[in-house]
Amino acid sequence: MKGLILSGGKGTRLRPLTYTGAKQLVPVANKPVLFYAIEDLVDAGVQAIGIVISPETGDQVKAAVGDGSRFGARVDYILQDAPRGIAHGIKIAQDFVGKDKFVLFLGDNFIRDGIVPQVAAFRDNSMHAQIILYKMDDPSSMGVAVLDDAGCVTKLVEKPKQFISPYAVIGIYMFDHHVFDAVNSIKPSKRGELEITDTIQYLIDQKLSVRAHLIQGAWIDTGKVQDILEANRLVLDVVESKNEGQVDAESRIEGRVVLEKGAVVVNSTVRGPAIIGEGTRIENAFVGPYTSIYYSCTIQNCEIENSVVLENSKICCLSKRIADSLIGRNTDISRAEGRTQTLKMVVGDYSKVGI
Ligand code: G1P
Repeated sequence: MKGLILSGGKGTRLRPLTYTGAKQLVPVANKPVLFYAIEDLVDAGVQAIGIVISPETGDQVKAAVGDGSRFGARVDYILQDAPRGIAHGIKIAQDFVGKDKFVLFLGDNFIRDGIVPQVAAFRDNSMHAQIILYKMDDPSSMGVAVLDDAGCVTKLVEKPKQFISPYAVIGIYMFDHHVFDAVNSIKPSKRGELEITDTIQYLIDQKLSVRAHLIQGAWIDTGKVQDILEANRLVLDVVESKNEGQVDAESRIEGRVVLEKGAVVVNSTVRGPAIIGEGTRIENAFVGPYTSIYYSCTIQNCEIENSVVLENSKICCLSKRIADSLIGRNTDISRAEGRTQTLKMVVGDYSKVGI
């Protein structure tokens, strides 16, 4: 079996971070969300992986993942010229997939418990496709599956306006070669994309066997800021303490905290679960629960909790605590010198600042 991960797209809901970076490389507990997908595939015994990349962020994805050897995988890259839909990603991967069965994994999807049982079931049974469902109160921003009394999928609708079923179709799918007939037959939707839901509906209409697997464990489409923070909390909830950094005698480390190589904590409290990245310095600061600070950051004379900070950022000398925030790369958040009542800002397009 092969794996196909989609890592293109524009990531508009994660702007401004996605102006300069791939949404799939946003870190969750200091690891790009895309890496969890690769690890889930390898854990399920899938080592030959194709990653569909875009012209805008493809080089970043290649630089981060490389040839896949450090994951125990072999990675090939497939360039998608523009975001033409998930099914278009399948279409351009036909040469890579050949006659094999494959797992399609959207690179911004995060599934807490991995995909080992689903891949095993698909390998051993003679179905043509398998989808994974997640029960939600309001799945209207997802593909949604309608089931009959026997639990078989009868219909799929992309982002239905009316409630038709509580079952969201998550971004992890398994197919055999019949899917190529489907993606070569369907037409672009109103949003101009070849839809994955239309692809699966085509297979159902051809009377091919499409099975559904309902999961109980958490699943998150990390498309929005709140989703990144939630995925971050899920991973930190099970992280184990590790100290590869330095903590001075004036500091307190409480609960489960990971200090990565070269992290330095000076006269500060870090209250877990939290992770402090390589070469990051925490000084005269409080880092509270559910916070991930990525590599080469400085957190000084301030307090932060339930937040994710990306690499090379500096947060310094603030009188208010930062909470529930996603802070991008190479940012500098500091008090305007000598002007305690003044907010001095250079804020990128589509940023959100809550004061
Ligand atoms: C896509 C699919 C949708 C699926 C979702 C899962 O939505 O079109 O069917 O439920 O991924 O993450 P999009 O991210 O394009 O809104």
